[in-house]
Amino acid sequence: MSDFKTLDDFEFDGKTVLVRADLNVPAKDGVVTDTTRIDRLAPTLTELSQAGAKVVVLSHFGRPKGGPDEKYSLKQVVDAVSKAVGQKVAFADDCVGPVAKDALAKIHAGGIIVMENLRFHPEEEKNDAGFAAQLAELGDIYVNDAFSAAHRAHASTEGLARLLPNAAGRLMEAELKALTLALEKPERPVAAVVGGAKISTKLDLLGNLVRRVNLLALGGGMANTFLYAKGTAVGASLCEKDMAEKAREIMAIAEEAGCEILLPRDAITAKEFKAGAESEVVAIDQVPSDSMILDIGPATVEYITLKLQGCKTVVWNGPLGAFETKPFDAGTNAVAGTVAALTKAGRVLSVAGGGDTVAALAAAGVEDSFTYVSAAGGAFLEWLEGKDLPGVAALKS
Ligand code: 3PG
Ligand code: MG
Repeated sequence: MSDFKTLDDFEFDGKTVLVRADLNVPAKDGVVTDTTRIDRLAPTLTELSQAGAKVVVLSHFGRPKGGPDEKYSLKQVVDAVSKAVGQKVAFADDCVGPVAKDALAKIHAGGIIVMENLRFHPEEEKNDAGFAAQLAELGDIYVNDAFSAAHRAHASTEGLARLLPNAAGRLMEAELKALTLALEKPERPVAAVVGGAKISTKLDLLGNLVRRVNLLALGGGMANTFLYAKGTAVGASLCEKDMAEKAREIMAIAEEAGCEILLPRDAITAKEFKAGAESEVVAIDQVPSDSMILDIGPATVEYITLKLQGCKTVVWNGPLGAFETKPFDAGTNAVAGTVAALTKAGRVLSVAGGGDTVAALAAAGVEDSFTYVSAAGGAFLEWLEGKDLPGVAALKS
C-alpha cells in the first residue's frame, strides 16, 4: 500500500482535482439501473469536495466508436451522481478543450462536474500523449478511483497519471488493499473458488491461481472440461473438448505447485435446461449420456465446505452452476453461504469479483457478507491472471 499516494497525502483546498471514475454503469432509457459503482465512488467525490477542491469527474461510458453518440452520453448518469453525493453535479458536453474549460470556469470550490464520455475522442483509447496533455490542462492533481478500468492503458487511466501529481482514490485504495490481502500477501491456506461456463476464457487465470493458492475448487461448465480431461463421461453437458489438453496442463502445474484441485464428486443433472426442469443427483461417474450437469451436487458442496473450513483466505470468481435458472443455483448458494458464515465468524478473509460473480453472490443474498466484493469485471479477472494493471502501475511509478 505504501507504493502509491492516497488522498491523505495532499492538500486539496483551492485545487482542481481530476478524478478518473468508472461511471460505466448499467442504464436503460437514460436512467441508471444499478448505482453500485456510483455509490462506491461517492466517498472520494465527497471527501474532495469537502476539502475545498473543484472536482472534475472523468469517465468512459460504454463502447462508442470514437465519436459523439447520444446513446453513450454521460449526461444520463449525472442525476444518479448528484443523488449519491447529495449535491447538484454539473455537466460539460466535452471532456477537453474550450467547452470543458468554460463549464469548469463556472464551478466553485467544493463543486463537482462530470465531463462528457472520454471515448468520444478516439485518442483516449490510443493513450494519445496530446490528448492526455489536454486533460492535464484542466487540473492540478490526478486521482484514479477507477480500479475497474485499470486494465486499460488509456489516456485517462495511464498517460494522464504521469503528467500530474497522482493518488489513488478511496475506492481504488480499498480494492487494492483487498486484492493484496487476498492473493499477494494472503494468510494461508488460500482457497480459490472458480466457476463459469468456459475454461477457454480463464486459462491464464487458472494457470496463475494454481501457482498461488493451496486449494482450487472448480464448478460450472468449466469443471466439466476438467472431468472430461480426466476420462469422466459428462453426457450432454457443456464441455470444451478441444481444451482437454489445456486442462491437463493446468492440473499438472497444480500438482507441481502443491495446489489441490477439487472437482465435482456429484452433480445435479437434467435432460432439459429450463427453470424447474426435472433434475436428479448423480455420482460424477454416473452422468447419463442424455443428461447435462447443471450444478454441483450435495456431496461436492459438503466436501468444499469441509475444505474451506481449514482455510484462512478465499478468493471467488464465477458461479458453480447455472445459477440464473432454479434449481441450479443451489450449489452456488450453499458454498457462498459457507464463505459468508466463515467470514462473519472472522475465520476467513473473502474477496470476490469479476463477471457474473457479483450477480451470483447477490442472488445468494451474501454480497454484503464477504470481506470485499469488487465492482470490477475485466480488471478483476486480469488481476487474477497475475497481470500488472496499467492504471495501477502508473500510480506506483
Ligand atoms: C467495465 O465495465 O468492465 C469497465 O468499465 C471497463 O469497460 P471496457 O471493458 O469497455 O473497457
Ligand atoms: Mg469490461
